[in-house]
Amino acid sequence: MQLYEAILTRRTIKAFKPDPVPTDVLAHALTAGLWAQNHRMTEPWRFTVLGAQTHQALAASDPKLLSKPKIVAISYPLSSDQFQRREDYAAVCCAIQNIQLAAWVDGLGMQWSTGRVSQLPATYTLLGIDPAQEELAGLLYFGYPESVPEPAPRKPLSQVLRELA
Ligand SMILES: Cc1cc2nc3c(=O)[nH]c(=O)nc-3n(C[C@H](O)[C@H](O)[C@H](O)COP(=O)(O)O)c2cc1C
Repeated sequence: MQLYEAILTRRTIKAFKPDPVPTDVLAHALTAGLWAQNHRMTEPWRFTVLGAQTHQALAASDPKLLSKPKIVAISYPLSSDQFQRREDYAAVCCAIQNIQLAAWVDGLGMQWSTGRVSQLPATYTLLGIDPAQEELAGLLYFGYPESVPEPAPRKPLSQVLRELA
């Protein structure tokens, strides 16, 4: 699949087949994240891959997580410099896009969730992340797609483009 086709066809996947995600396929996708642009080479991404026991415990906060074959938390260190903090968050977002596109090309679906569970103090405790040191950019749910939703329509370029003389 060519890059532009992957960008256009990539969808957020919420319904997964129960099949497990092979470790090497997951590592391949996460490695694409390591190559994201990041200002000052801070490489701010931190990945926490949940095993079965932690996955089960997290599902106490939301039972629908049991239908997500693999969960990876993605976080970044909270720089004391507010501008660096913003740049690090931006870099992590770039990493997430790389990861989702790389997974997509391999036939693997992903949902980036910034929902309630990713913000709960109990989630930080379970993951062993100190919220004073690191912030979760989200939980990434991986699995082979059960179904691929129709794309939500996008505004045409002309609607979001200003051309100056
Ligand atoms: C910062 C961010 C947070 C998101 N959080 C959620 C979320 O909590 N739950 C969810 O279902 N999708 C979440 N998404 C995915 C968007 O809902 C999704 O990208 C959008 O609906 C467009 O669908 P598509 O990704 O299939 O093109 C998030 C996306 C971004 C960029």
